[in-house]
Amino acid sequence: MRLSRYFLPVLKENPSEAQIVSHRLMLRAGMIKQQSAGIYSWLPLGFKVLRKIENIVHQEQARAGHIPMQMPTLQSADLWRESGRYDGYGEEMLRMQDRHGRDMLFSPTAEELFTDVFRAHVNSYKDLPLTLYQIQWKFRDEIRPRFGVMRGREFYMKDGYTFDLTKEDALHAYNRHLVSYLRTYERMGLQAIPMRADSGPIGGDNTHEFLVLAETGESEVFYDREITDLKFGDRQIDYDNVEQCQAVLEEFTSRYARTDETHDEALFNEVPEERRRVARGIEVGQIFYFGTKYSEAMGATVQGPDGKPGEVHMGSHGIGVSRLLGAIIEASHDENGIIWPEGVTPFHVGIVNLKQGDDEADAACDALYQSFTAAGLEPLYDDRKERAGGKFATMDLIGLPWRITVGPRGLKNGVVELTCRRTGASEELPPEQAVQKIIEIYAPHRVHVF
Ligand SMILES: Nc1ncnc2c1ncn2[C@@H]1O[C@H](COP(=O)(O)OP(=O)(O)OP(=O)(O)O)[C@@H](O)[C@H]1O
Ligand SMILES: [Mg+2]
Repeated sequence: MRLSRYFLPVLKENPSEAQIVSHRLMLRAGMIKQQSAGIYSWLPLGFKVLRKIENIVHQEQARAGHIPMQMPTLQSADLWRESGRYDGYGEEMLRMQDRHGRDMLFSPTAEELFTDVFRAHVNSYKDLPLTLYQIQWKFRDEIRPRFGVMRGREFYMKDGYTFDLTKEDALHAYNRHLVSYLRTYERMGLQAIPMRADSGPIGGDNTHEFLVLAETGESEVFYDREITDLKFGDRQIDYDNVEQCQAVLEEFTSRYARTDETHDEALFNEVPEERRRVARGIEVGQIFYFGTKYSEAMGATVQGPDGKPGEVHMGSHGIGVSRLLGAIIEASHDENGIIWPEGVTPFHVGIVNLKQGDDEADAACDALYQSFTAAGLEPLYDDRKERAGGKFATMDLIGLPWRITVGPRGLKNGVVELTCRRTGASEELPPEQAVQKIIEIYAPHRVHVF
């Protein structure tokens, strides 16, 4: 992409409505525009990152054997009456009527819809286990939408639903999700810690929230410092292997880590004092086993091996896809702007031409552009007739992790400058070497599973 042809409406001034850095930077970098409280247009740069994040989620779900599909955003209230949630859900649910006076609602979540599809089409235990998921817009009429995409009213969520014959199988599905989520967040450059969550009226302790530590997080969290040393990394996991998945769950959830909702002071005090941490975190996902709550209420059963109708154990598992943009920026920025992790960056590399209109500089930039494109990478070439300072400021603000600066002086010596956004370190090297280096940096981020 050439910046002269792109649509990147960056703001010079700090928008006054933004209270936290991610919101401020997303507005300044021309990623989003607010349309009403908690409702945003996703401008090209924001949309690009949203898609990158969404793709990682899809890829890791595919790896775990989960099946994508798409549900409507508008639902009939009748399904929610069946599950018993229509009246109880409260003011967060956006309710409306169609022209025939039928009660409708904008989906805040989709347990009912998925259970309905399941009961219509799945009849036998032989079709289990089954995990269906979608990535779809949700609406919750939050009383206090704030912090930009962090707490929106309309937001983009991955929601997956597991259907199993026994509690044991359903807990394996739960563990599978835990593993796939650890992988998902790490690929985005995030550490998201599974913390024991509150299961509300359903009870039980089979629910975890994933929290990214950040001062601006809305949840207070209490944890054993050792948990931050854990990395999922590159390990190969067989998602069908019950013991392997269970072992990962144990590894990542045996240390103390809870939000204020489930915090237990006495238990926390058993952690050696020097390892106790109290901090804040952003919830970027949640996994939940809830048994037969919906399947029972909505009459979803399957025929068991004995020919009799058997119960169906369910769980639901969510990732806050749009909230993740905010969480990533909270975790990765400096005073000059965003610093995208390689896994989610909207463009892989920025090319800054210090002397637009200079034949040699223009030709060198065009050649770099071609090389990257041929290698399947996306460069953003700042080909505007702007002064260098302005070009650097824009690149720093939008946060591409790597920048190549091209100018007549360097070209005389056969070199360009490669700069790392995170460290600020620069090196001069021949253009072909710079290209090669960038290709190598991104090699681990090219995953083809979906
Ligand atoms: N208003 C929102 N705006 C953006 N993302 C959201 C919002 N509400 C929930 N999410 C994201 O969707 C994920 C799954 O939804 P879930 O139903 O678990 O949310 P929740 O527990 O009600 O969230 P919260 O406690 O933050 O209100 C959450 O972990 C979060 O990342
Ligand atoms: Mg939650």
